[in-house]
Amino acid sequence: MDVARTIAEYRKLRAGLAEPVGLVPTMGYLHEGHLSLVRAARERSASVVASIFVNPSQFGPTEDLAAYPRDLDRDLSRLEEEGVAVVFVPEVDEIYPKGYDTWVTVEELTTRLEGASRPTHFRGVATIVAKLFNIVEPQIAVFGQKDAQQALVIDRMARDLGFDIELVISPTVREPDGLAMSSRNVYLEPDERHSATVLRRSLTLAESLYMNGERSAESIRLQMQKVIASEPLVDPLYVSIADVATLQEMETVDRKALVSLAAQVGKARLIDNIVLPPGESLL
Ligand code: PAJ
Repeated sequence: MDVARTIAEYRKLRAGLAEPVGLVPTMGYLHEGHLSLVRAARERSASVVASIFVNPSQFGPTEDLAAYPRDLDRDLSRLEEEGVAVVFVPEVDEIYPKGYDTWVTVEELTTRLEGASRPTHFRGVATIVAKLFNIVEPQIAVFGQKDAQQALVIDRMARDLGFDIELVISPTVREPDGLAMSSRNVYLEPDERHSATVLRRSLTLAESLYMNGERSAESIRLQMQKVIASEPLVDPLYVSIADVATLQEMETVDRKALVSLAAQVGKARLIDNIVLPPGESLL
């Protein structure tokens, strides 16, 4: 496995990579969720490139950039075990040199859900992913359904800007008790960690209400909110049932819907989601 720390180093390695190249962008501190994306990329590509870059521009001024967990040595050995060909690990100045002044903004989709409370987050995500697409030159790129709005924003950006890259959205990997794996789960105290399982339980409830014929989005939202309210350590930020194409809130769940939520649990801001009808893909 090669490690490229600069764009120039990567470009030299890129010339020798067997195609198709599959890209898995990450911010490191890898868990099984990230590794499942690497495996999905490996199944579909001749060479897998992973990137590790804690992207400052997607963190808000009061968010956890400085505290974001990091363990590069462990990440590199896990990626090597998974058969990754090249890991791209740039420094911040390599991506955002002095005078950097160009941003990629997806407009409408980023006003909702995560974007409503994190106004510059998706500008940072769309910009870094567009840069990675240009630098890495993959034919395939794999993202997790865990960050569903991110996947939809990247899909919109890639189509709008004409990137010829196949996007693969891989299912959310969970802990045995249902909590979606996240690098931010390390912030949870034991009692908070236990309470956080309510997020998944509220999504499971939405799914069973839907399977029993409930189609009123408001009724499903209210019942989800009630379950979440039973855990005092979990502070819900939003509970949404939205059309996957626009992320506009739905009244009636009569087409493909993204059921998503965010909650503050101690120091961790957690998100999770499912798609209805069950088994439908996000994209
Ligand atoms: P990061 O949070 O490190 O996640 C990297 C990728 O792993 C994303 O595509 C995310 O959706 C996926 N992922 C995270 N947890 C997962 C889980 N439990 N199951 C399946 N996939 C999971 O998302 C980012 O980094 C950044 O925004 C990035 C796209 C790298 C741009 O900076």
